[in-house]
Amino acid sequence: MQFLIETYLKSLLFFVPLFVKQLSWAETGTNLLTNSSNVNSLGYTFKYPYLLSNGLPVETTFKSPSLLPSMPSDGGNFGKRSIDLGGLEVTQLSISNSTSHRVWRTYEGGPNNMGVSIFEPTTLPRNFLKLGFYAQPNNRQLFGWILVAKDVAGSNLRPPVDYTEVGNTTSLISIKQDGPAYFWQPLCPNGYQAVGLYVTTSPVKPSLGQDSINCVRSELTEKSEADTWVWRIKDMTISSLRPATRGVEATGVYTGTFSFKNLKLLPPPLFCLKNIKFDLSSMPSENQTRVLFQTYSPWIYLHPQEDFLPSSVDWVFANGALLYQKGNESNPVLIHPNGSNLPQGGCNDDLFWLDYLVDEKAREKVKRGDLGSTKVYLHIKPMFGATFTDIVVWLFFPYNGNAHLKFLFIKSMSLGNIGEHVGDWEHVTLRISNFNGELWRVYFSEHSGGTLVDACDLEFIQGGNKPVVYSSLHGHAMFSKPGVVLQGGGKSGIRNDMARSDKFFDASIGYEVIAGPGVVEPPWLNYFRKWGPRVHYNIDKFLNSVAKILPIFLRKGLRKLINKIPLEVLGQNGPTGPKVKNKQRNGKKK
Ligand SMILES: *[C@@H]1O[C@H](CO)[C@@H](O)[C@H](O)[C@H]1NC(C)=O
Ligand SMILES: *[C@@H]1O[C@H](CO)[C@@H](O)[C@H](O)[C@H]1NC(C)=O
Ligand SMILES: *[C@@H]1O[C@H](CO)[C@@H](O)[C@H](O)[C@H]1NC(C)=O
Ligand SMILES: *[C@@H]1O[C@H](CO)[C@@H](O)[C@H](O)[C@H]1NC(C)=O
Ligand SMILES: *[C@@H]1O[C@H](CO)[C@@H](O)[C@H](O)[C@H]1NC(C)=O
Ligand SMILES: *[C@@H]1O[C@H](CO)[C@@H](O)[C@H](O)[C@H]1NC(C)=O
Repeated sequence: MQFLIETYLKSLLFFVPLFVKQLSWAETGTNLLTNSSNVNSLGYTFKYPYLLSNGLPVETTFKSPSLLPSMPSDGGNFGKRSIDLGGLEVTQLSISNSTSHRVWRTYEGGPNNMGVSIFEPTTLPRNFLKLGFYAQPNNRQLFGWILVAKDVAGSNLRPPVDYTEVGNTTSLISIKQDGPAYFWQPLCPNGYQAVGLYVTTSPVKPSLGQDSINCVRSELTEKSEADTWVWRIKDMTISSLRPATRGVEATGVYTGTFSFKNLKLLPPPLFCLKNIKFDLSSMPSENQTRVLFQTYSPWIYLHPQEDFLPSSVDWVFANGALLYQKGNESNPVLIHPNGSNLPQGGCNDDLFWLDYLVDEKAREKVKRGDLGSTKVYLHIKPMFGATFTDIVVWLFFPYNGNAHLKFLFIKSMSLGNIGEHVGDWEHVTLRISNFNGELWRVYFSEHSGGTLVDACDLEFIQGGNKPVVYSSLHGHAMFSKPGVVLQGGGKSGIRNDMARSDKFFDASIGYEVIAGPGVVEPPWLNYFRKWGPRVHYNIDKFLNSVAKILPIFLRKGLRKLINKIPLEVLGQNGPTGPKVKNKQRNGKKK
């Protein structure tokens, strides 16, 4: 992780709103397109064959590139289609024209200004009832799901007592739509909550009969919040919903429903489900996890000019890594190849850090990494009340290379040694359904943030279900597409360069499960101190050297840009390992 750049970016305050906006577009897979050249606003190309030909992408249903393997049966409940949340059984209904009916569509607003489609689940398994409708942007293939529920206890589902209108699109006379839509929120009996909305194309209230959506007993619900935006026009917003509290121990269940907000109206809240049973029986077994990882393990491409390759942690330790202790800097200790003499536990204080041998040749060797020894390290964890499994795929780079800036017309300006540091942990996370074993999303870690990409927007290796991942030049941030992404937005910013090359890594070849139920953790995982020393970058020196070669009228701009780097950056902190990073990240973005 380019920890310097994290702070650096945070500091570029005037850039930050743009940056955040970019990430949220990317989250819904909706980078702006300029239609003819297939180049998006971030300057990288990607294929969008549906855009100009077959009408809207949503008219095609996404299918995973190849058949999923059958899961070994291990007696657990993983992949059994339904999960018992505690007297309420839920199943994941894939939205397609065989399970659902499109009730409404616009052709404007939303990502790429292509509009939104709303679907009503219509073909439900026997005794299952619907909790809401599904909405997705039209700029991507139909790829979504919604939970439907069966009341096992007999008291966990109730029809609403009434509906209240939370908005309509009658005022949008000038936009193309399938007539106006009316959004209805269930008013629930006491002790029950609404999870989703009903949508009609007439102003007549939905009936409360068999066709109604259902309310859920409050004990089986918890607070939700907006996840990604699906559609926005004027003062109206449709957002998908996610549990407000997330993490390994969180019980909130993602339902696939959405909310409708109109600035003028404040509708009552919508809830997500809650797994009150939460016994982890729906999690994949060891054998099932192995099959899942063999199926979805990423192919990681490094940039053709990459100098600093990944390696295994053991390789670094075996080739000379030192443990430094504060106050005793002249007596570093060689770390055992198995890491057993690393201090365990504690917290990320400044008492210990790693560094490589002082001998230039040995040091350079370690810095350059070793693709042959590379392994990924897997952390298996429950997500959304154990209705999903996250496989966090960690990759270690012994060294992070320096940063490059795009500054106005200067395509690439080296920042000298700025950004260089020892020890760089990066990850992608595969989010897999415990109902059916399908890959739903992949999270790409990118400096201080990251991007969630739905499976329908991933690139897969030919003929397989393995997603392709691009690791950026020197900084090693993870991206789903090749090209250039400027962090900072606009015309200037830190460059992330991604491209295919013959330096790649098939994560299924070398991997080790390092954390999860029943796993013996290697000692280095519980080393919570720094994986590299603090570094001091001489920004002034850099500026002075660069300023000389710039035309006078540009020097000020560059100085201004770089002066936004706060003083803290100069005495930077040093990178941390997976567990500490996880803690810092928990709940963020994912
Ligand atoms: C998109 O393509 C159409 C047809 O080729 C063209 O008329 C239109 O101007 C293009 N729009 C943009 C934004 O390039
Ligand atoms: C359903 O969708 C598939 C693929 O998108 C399409 O081939 C098929 O014709 C559609 N069926 C109906 C009944 O619309
Ligand atoms: C896992 O798979 C192995 C063979 O691949 C088998 O011997 C073992 O019994 C399986 N474990 C369980 C718990 O089913
Ligand atoms: C549509 O919504 C507006 C408020 O946005 C409301 O004033 C109007 O009564 C609604 N129309 C119908 C037919 O429900
Ligand atoms: C400094 O480190 C050396 C080598 O590990 C150790 O023998 C010595 O006791 C340490 N000194 C202090 C003051 O901790
Ligand atoms: C780790 O390596 C050290 C020395 O290299 C050895 O003494 C120790 O027994 C090893 N520990 C384990 C758990 O293998």
